[in-house]
Amino acid sequence: MSTRAFPVEMLRQRFPALRSAGLGVFFDNAAGAQVPNGVIEAVRHHLIEHNVQRGGRYGRSLAVDATISRARSRVAALINARRPEEIAFGMNATSFIRMVSLAVGQMLAERNEIIVTDLDHEANVATWLALERMGAKVRWWHMRQDGCLHAEDLSAVLGSRTRLVACTLASNAIGSVVDVCAAANLAHSAGAEIFVDAVHYGPHGVIDVQALDCDYLVCSGYKIFSPHMGFLWGRYEALAKLPTFREDFIPDEPPGKLEAGTFIYENVAGMAAAIDYLAEVGRAVTGRSGPASEGSIREDCRTAMAAIREYEQGLSRELLRVLRDCGAEIYGLRGEEQVRARVPTVCFNLPGLAPATVTKAAAAEGIGVRDGHMYSPRLMRRLGLAVESGAVRVSLAHYNTVEEVRQLGAVLSRLPRPVTSVTAG
Ligand SMILES: Cc1ncc(COP(=O)(O)O)c(C=O)c1O
Repeated sequence: MSTRAFPVEMLRQRFPALRSAGLGVFFDNAAGAQVPNGVIEAVRHHLIEHNVQRGGRYGRSLAVDATISRARSRVAALINARRPEEIAFGMNATSFIRMVSLAVGQMLAERNEIIVTDLDHEANVATWLALERMGAKVRWWHMRQDGCLHAEDLSAVLGSRTRLVACTLASNAIGSVVDVCAAANLAHSAGAEIFVDAVHYGPHGVIDVQALDCDYLVCSGYKIFSPHMGFLWGRYEALAKLPTFREDFIPDEPPGKLEAGTFIYENVAGMAAAIDYLAEVGRAVTGRSGPASEGSIREDCRTAMAAIREYEQGLSRELLRVLRDCGAEIYGLRGEEQVRARVPTVCFNLPGLAPATVTKAAAAEGIGVRDGHMYSPRLMRRLGLAVESGAVRVSLAHYNTVEEVRQLGAVLSRLPRPVTSVTAG
């Protein structure tokens, strides 16, 4: 599908925040996306009609149980889980990574090596490093100069003592996509498990846990057009073995063993509605009409995410072109022909300008972009950047447009640059 064929204007109408005057051009999607009206309505409906505790025998409480169960099936369809019980809901991705890492930490024996990467968000690094206190040995799968993780380099650090590989599906800072399929294959051949951080990839492409053949995968719903919440997927047998904290009367079975306490039911209702929205996008891009059926949700979501991925490659191309024309130093994959290996998240600096100067100038023109280390301090150091200042990040979503990208380009090209002295020879 060409960029032109993607129904972006129609979809933008579905996001009330994009129409509110205060938001301007929103290019900070990696920190959390906007939500479509169906999500707002689902949260509102829950708070008015179903705002009670689950597990009671009265109507509204049964309705909460049904909402959670429906949301589990929706998420299972979105990521192609084998069964809904493999999905657990909670606060965010970080707390789930911590939960799984603590559980893995209690099961270390001969196999006590954990492999982490310097491309990842710190949530999927520090949580594993914390296991050193429990006897784990951490080994590093390093990013290469091209801003990518290469499977061959993973082979070199995997061994008979590797317990688990923790890696991202896409960098939240520089946008490179990781070949998790190859990593999972290597990890499993060495008898290890693989934990995938799909938080950043989630809004940009199809996630298929069976095709990836991973063991655990975590997402933040609020990056995938839902309100603030997170979810964990794990292979049922892997989840069943994890020692987790739970009250004694809670059965030692997924998903209950991973959901101690109360979570944000209204936001879980919103997550289900976000998936319904994606299914609608799938139907819209194929021109199908009529209401979605339960059975078609997976296929509709897959179609939507494939179309989003393709549309966003056009956005990436334009963004890279605009930044190059402004003389930006782009980190990681910078070629317009490399957009298939990335998502539309780009970190850059303008020579002679502090990242904060650039983002403040953009904000003054109504464009929301972010500066800093993007919670990836190790990556910043690898890029030769000071962690305190880092870089400027532009992160796009499927409701952004080429025109908005050009607007940013116009603002950046107007920025006064420090004069560099030229010495006559
Ligand atoms: C790649 C990645 N992993 C993990 C996280 C942490 O997610 P959460 O805020 O849901 O804990 C983020 C948040 O930005 C992220 O981008």
